Amino acid sequence: MNALHYANVVAPVGNDDARIMDAALQFGRSHMGMAAPNPSVGTIIVKSNGVEPVVIARGVTALGGRPHAETEALKMAGEAARGATAYVTLEPCAHHSKTPPCSSALIAAQIGRVVIAIEDPNPLVSGNGIRMLRDAGIETIVGIGAAQARIDHAGHFRRVRDGRPHILLKIAVSADGKTGLAGRKPARISGPVSMAEAHILRATSDAVMVGSGTVLADNPKLDCRLPGMENRSPIRVVLDGSLKIPLDCHLVQTAKARKLIVIASENAPAEKQKALEDAGAEVIRVPCTRDRHRKPAIDDAMQELGNRGITRLLVEGGPVLSASLLQYDLVDEAVVVCAKVELGEDAIDAIEGMPLDALTASPKLKIIEERMLGEDRMVRLFRK
Ligand SMILES: NC(=O)c1ccc[n+]([C@@H]2O[C@H](COP(=O)([O-])OP(=O)(O)OC[C@H]3O[C@@H](n4cnc5c(N)ncnc54)[C@H](OP(=O)(O)O)[C@@H]3O)[C@@H](O)[C@H]2O)c1
Repeated sequence: MNALHYANVVAPVGNDDARIMDAALQFGRSHMGMAAPNPSVGTIIVKSNGVEPVVIARGVTALGGRPHAETEALKMAGEAARGATAYVTLEPCAHHSKTPPCSSALIAAQIGRVVIAIEDPNPLVSGNGIRMLRDAGIETIVGIGAAQARIDHAGHFRRVRDGRPHILLKIAVSADGKTGLAGRKPARISGPVSMAEAHILRATSDAVMVGSGTVLADNPKLDCRLPGMENRSPIRVVLDGSLKIPLDCHLVQTAKARKLIVIASENAPAEKQKALEDAGAEVIRVPCTRDRHRKPAIDDAMQELGNRGITRLLVEGGPVLSASLLQYDLVDEAVVVCAKVELGEDAIDAIEGMPLDALTASPKLKIIEERMLGEDRMVRLFRK
């Protein structure tokens, strides 16, 4: 176990700033996967009743990224914001866009003190929000809860810095390190608890990606089927160099109801592109890799997703796509679910041409969480 994990952030007893920021981080995560292209930020406003701080308002980035969390919380606090302390999980913005900056709104509301988890690397903000607050004479503390905020806002940070989404690779493996049956047939590996966890990962991601091999083998739906959370299904993305996914697969059949992006090579057949577009899919073409495999270049594909505002991408394999991500150093986070079932010698390896250790013992990643999901053991790794 590690203190970096979502569920395991324990603030020292008696440290109000850490305790309240922890609550703001938790609240901020509630719109993860629904706030893109913006990060899902949490704000809690407290005021002392003479004995202890009392929460008077809270806000989370609204669906689609606006209004921001601070605006929502200030609206709820009204006049009571004057002299109160605001806990914000990301530096308040400092630039005029569709709305005035949140730092100005906090100043106008005469907030007394601001506690910020982490600075926003967005060049339009990047310390300016903090400066505006301090210049207005507001006590502003930065860094409380920063380790967790770095994880929670990883999608925003990655997109701002590198133009692509934060990439979380999820793999379910058998006890003998396999991921599918011989002949690339699907295998039942995960138990019901880890299946539910997989759906939570979908709900908290902006998009979910598979390779064409997984569509051909499994005909997946890639939606969130947890009761009451169906509306949290992410955008679906398929890497399909030659546009070979069938028009009658679940993903294409539902493309008018939920966005489907198919990423193809430049030389993929135009008629198939037209048929997919008629069915409701968006087809993006990217250059091919220069190696003999001639697949759509995965780094270009990721930039295209970043350009479309996707900040958190969940990749659900299969083995060829997982190998590509590792090869191009595109795994920012990994969730590996190890089941007790064995699939046997002739089943297919979890990562094409590489041992599972290439992921689980990668020098680029560190384990931030390990726990049982029913009968399965889950390991979560995060980029160092
Ligand atoms: N247990 C699990 O977690 C899990 C998850 C998913 C799948 N599976 C299993 O995995 C098996 C399917 O394996 P798979 O390896 O064929 O599936 P895959 O990795 O989903 O698909 C691979 C295909 O994606 C296409 N692709 C396009 N661009 C690519 C790129 N840049 N890098 C990599 N791939 C790219 C390639 O086909 P083109 O060259 O034609 O474009 C490639 O052959 C099935 O048995 C399925 O049940 C298991």
